[in-house]
Parts: sequence; structure tokens; C-alpha cells
Amino acid sequence: MKVTGCAPYAYENPVQQPGYLHPVQATIARGCVTDIDARAATAIDGVITVLTPFNAPRLETGHDAELEILQSDRVSFRGQLISAVVADTPEAASQAADLVRVSYEREAHDVTFSTEHELYKPEVVNPTYETDTETGDIDAAFAAAPRTVDATYTTAMYYNNPMEPHATVAWWDNDGLTVYDPTQGVHAMRQVLRSVLGLEEQRIRVIARYVGGGFGSKGTAHAHIILTVLAAKRTAGRPVKLALTRQQMFTLVGYRTPTMQQVRLCADQDGRLLGISNDVVELTSRIKEFAEQTGVPTRNMYAAPNRRTTHRLAALDLPVPSWMRAPGECPGMFAPEVAMDELAEACGVDPIELRVRNEPEVDPETGLPFSTRNLVGCLREGARRFGWDNRVATPGSTMKNGWWVGTGVASSTYPVHFQAGSTARVRILDTGRYEVSIGAVDIGTGAWTVLTQIAADALGVALEDVDVRIGDTDLPTASVAGGSSGTTNWGTAVVEAARSFRKKYGPDPDPQDELTAESSVNPFVDQFAMHAFGAQFAEVHVNIDTGEVRVPRLLGVFAAGRIVNPRTARSQFIGGMTMGLSMALHEQSILDDRFGFTVNHDLAEYHVSGYADVGSVEAYWLDEHDPYVNPMGTKGIGEIGIVGTAAAIANAAHHATGVRVRDLPITVDKFL
Ligand code: MOS
Repeated sequence: MKVTGCAPYAYENPVQQPGYLHPVQATIARGCVTDIDARAATAIDGVITVLTPFNAPRLETGHDAELEILQSDRVSFRGQLISAVVADTPEAASQAADLVRVSYEREAHDVTFSTEHELYKPEVVNPTYETDTETGDIDAAFAAAPRTVDATYTTAMYYNNPMEPHATVAWWDNDGLTVYDPTQGVHAMRQVLRSVLGLEEQRIRVIARYVGGGFGSKGTAHAHIILTVLAAKRTAGRPVKLALTRQQMFTLVGYRTPTMQQVRLCADQDGRLLGISNDVVELTSRIKEFAEQTGVPTRNMYAAPNRRTTHRLAALDLPVPSWMRAPGECPGMFAPEVAMDELAEACGVDPIELRVRNEPEVDPETGLPFSTRNLVGCLREGARRFGWDNRVATPGSTMKNGWWVGTGVASSTYPVHFQAGSTARVRILDTGRYEVSIGAVDIGTGAWTVLTQIAADALGVALEDVDVRIGDTDLPTASVAGGSSGTTNWGTAVVEAARSFRKKYGPDPDPQDELTAESSVNPFVDQFAMHAFGAQFAEVHVNIDTGEVRVPRLLGVFAAGRIVNPRTARSQFIGGMTMGLSMALHEQSILDDRFGFTVNHDLAEYHVSGYADVGSVEAYWLDEHDPYVNPMGTKGIGEIGIVGTAAAIANAAHHATGVRVRDLPITVDKFL
């Protein structure tokens, strides 16, 4: 239905006589709104209402500064929502929004992200990891080790750009509030609306039947959703529709913090690690803390007796950073995986062999055994498929038709996140078909299909005999489509409901027999470290004259437990790898310190890899049987594809040219 355009996205749901909302955004980065003159706006034909901080309906404040819009005259970042127009047509709303005159009292702002900035230590990093960890003495180990790498790596500020831009439709009636929104979690969003609006849960319904990508930007509610709900309070029952433009998305739906990571590796002559550390500096907004867990993957990857990770934040007058595909692991594997390549060179050891030598027997952080860990298998299988054995070790040794040619490798990892408490209902209909209901959301991953497979399998019936219903708070409670945990969390609930249903009603249930079950805690979570692993390979060409970088080939091999649906899984892996390519070569935000915003705030100037940028992308996986992760044996596949890709490309670029790029993106100037 998506491919043929028949799947209605949030904005396309037909509603009666909607009002169209157009936001007004602050043009200063810090200060106060002193006055809003809406006379010219109100005079436009078709304008229904103009919301301002001085007339907007009140919210419950004190929960979430990002969401508490129009509640005070404060401006905390450029682009903040400070007013909005509702009109009979989108054109009238947009024209009127342009005519809203805002007066400000400006204050000096600070958006400069540098190590010079005053930094602070957050209490935890997302979601609840320890901020700092330390084992042994990395400084002493470093001073004494024969082989060392000490370098600082930077990743840029990245913006989520799902194909479906953010859009919300909301209306109030006697039953309460109904919202169509492409959220990654209908129940989570209802919770947020409940606390911000001070409304009982039963009076809020959130529907997200089709979603055109989220990558984390739709994982938590952002301010535009609250704006739509507030505006709908003013339209006497008329639904209000808001579709954000791409430019508005660049200030309203989050971004990935830039990172500066000082990685230190020390090893013996043969490349066996004696110490590993990653000291991370990143930014957050001054109004709300978001601490990306960038140092966390360093804790589990390789064996080393001396280890340290730290996180420090600069609080700036910027929008609140947020979730973006593999938060933590994505930037947090770039730096160490390039550092590992540098160590391989320093030791004269093949980069794959170096990683194999540093395979830990147990999780270095917790001491727990891994439920399954097949990083080495992925590296070996990837090497075989990629043709690694023919590689000449010396950088800069291959030139073809005016291009330097190189290959590189990096590891990937992603944890198995599990959250108990998702609920599924199984019912047999008059037709003899099974209906399985769960308030999950398919954000474009194929989760809907996969849940149908899991349900049919657990019920012991054909796929065609099962209808899965998702995407609605009227259905049983489910966790957010995030952290690559959908199949794990929802699948576990579906399996439990299906098994209990069979146990109770046997093989021949009567029509309308029904059973609801909630997923319980995985009994093995305290016994094993559970992570998916992968190996990324890249071939990079760098033009000898211009420095132009091309990536004709990416190849990834993953060990992520059982793959329920090869077609959708492959799509997730290659989608993640493509996003990693985009991170490696193209995506970069230019923050103008004077005005406090990202200047290249649209797809014309913030380049996301397009078709012509992408070469061959191949994804494979090992058959991995993990009896501990969940009843399906799945580990999560939505995010691991992006992890390690940028490092593999940077390593290949170095192999091609001898130039070590430690700052993303890998642009032409780095080679000239
Ligand atoms: Mo993902 S960033 O956990 O939606």
C-alpha cells in the first residue's frame, strides 16, 4: 500500500472542515518576546485564530521545557515556536504567519560548541547508563605501552529527514482529544499528552497507522504536536492540521549532537590492547538535557585491562538534541573503529586480525557472558565475500584511471533492548480468522508484516489466517518503535498471548474467544550480555586531482539473532548502511554562531546521499541461534546497519590515499 500510494499518512486522513496551522518561529536565539502584533495577520481572509504566549491555552508546566510552548515570553533558541496561525486554507495560514509582528528583548546567546566551552558532567547518559566508567589505570598503561594511538575524532550535527515530514492532525470533542500523528509510539505519546495537558488517559486517542520513517525523530513528542493540540482547542471542534516543512523540521524535531571524542588505545607489539578510553564531549540544550550515550559501545567491544569512558556536555542556546538512528553507537563506534585502524597500522597487523585478537571472552564491562557474540564470524564471512585476502596492506598502493582505490573495515554493534509490559490480544473472529491486536507502530521497517509472521507461527496457523491490528491507543499497550526493540518487545507479547490462547482454548476455539497477555521480564537479562554484532566493509575511490570521494561498494555481515523476514531485514540493513554512507561523506550542519541556527536547513543545502551517491550495498547475515534474547531469538536490526559504516569508509579512504580523516564528513578538502 505504501509503494502504490494507497496508505494514508497522518496528514492525509480525511477530516471534516479542517483548520490549517502555520507556526511562527523565533528569530532570536535568546531573550524574551515583548509584544506580538497580530492585527495584519488577523485581517487576512480565512484566519480563524492567532495563538501567542499571551493568549494561548495553559499547559501543565514543569515536566518538559521543550514541550511547554506559548506558556511564557522566554525564547530559548532560534526557531522556537512563539506564535501560530490557524486559517481555512494552508495558504492563508502561511501568509498570515508571515504578517505576525514580533518584538523581542534580545539577550546574548551562546551556541559555540568547542572544547573551550564550560562543560558539565550529566548524572547519567541516555537512557540510564553511567556517565563515566573506569577500570584499572589507563594513564599508566598508556605511558608504558609500546604501541599507542591518541587522537580526537569529530562527528557533525545530523538531522533526521524521514521521507514523511512530521505532520499532526488533532481535534477535541466531547470524548476528549484525538490525534493522528506519525509517532513511533502511540501509547508513549498519549502519556506525554496526558501529563502536558493534565487530561485523563481515557480521553486521549492517538492513531499512527502508517508512518513514513522516523529514525528517532518521531520517537518522542516534539513541540509542534503540542502546538497543534493547543490550536485545536481554539477551533470549536474543528480539526486542526499541521504539516511541518523541511525547513521547520531543522529546528523542531531534534538532531544528533555533534561529538568530539578523544580515543586512546594502547597495546603490546602484537596489537593486544592494554588500555582503551573514550572521552566524549557533546552538546545539549540549555532548557532540557539530552546526553547521547556515545561512550557506551567502547565499554563492550574489546578486551583490555585498563579502560575508561567519560561524557561531558556543553549546554547551549540551541534546540534540544534528540534520538537519531543508533544514538550512542553510531557516533560512538566511528571514533574507536577508526582508532583501531590506526592501531592496526601502528602494529603492522591486519585490521581484521587486530579485532580478532582483542575479542573478549565475556562482556568487559559487566563480566557477564554474551548470550551470543559472533563478531569474529561476521569479520571472517565479510572478508570472504568482500575479497579482503587480495588486499595490499600499504596505503596508497592502488591507483586506477586517476583514482586512488582503497578498502576498509570496521565493526558494528547494537544492544538488545528489552522492555517488559507490551500487551497483545488474540481473538478468533466469526470468519475463523485470527485477529491479533497490539498498539505497536510500523515506522516503515516492516514490523506489521513481521508481527503477522510471529503471530501465525505462534498460533500454528497460516499467515493468511491472521490479521494484525496496530497503531492505535485503543489497542493493547505497546512500547515505542525505538532502540531496535520492536520485534523483541511486541513479538514477545504476541507470542505470550498466542501461546496462552492456545493453552486456554485448544486447537478449535469458538468464535469470539479472546485472550490478552502482557510480556513478562526476560529471565536471562541478568545472566547474559545481549548484543548484535556486525562487520562493515567499504571500497573507496578518491580522485587524484579533485579529491572527490566515491564509495562504489559497501558490504555488511551481521549476527543479529534470527532473521524473521529476510526481505524487510535486508531493507533495514542496507538502509542503515546508506545512512552511514551519508554520514561519512555528506551530512554536515553549518551552525551560524552569530544567529544561532543551522544555515543549511533544507534538503537543497543539507545533502543527504541521493541515488547517484550510492553504489553497491550488500547485506548478509549469519544464522545465529540465541535462545536467551526472547522467544523469537531476534536481536533487533533497525539500527546496527548505520553503526560502523562511516568508520569503514574513513578507513578505506585512508587505505586509498594515506590520508587519515578523523573529522566527518570526508570531503574533498581533506585530501588536497
Ligand atoms: Mo531509534 S533513534 O531508537 O528511534
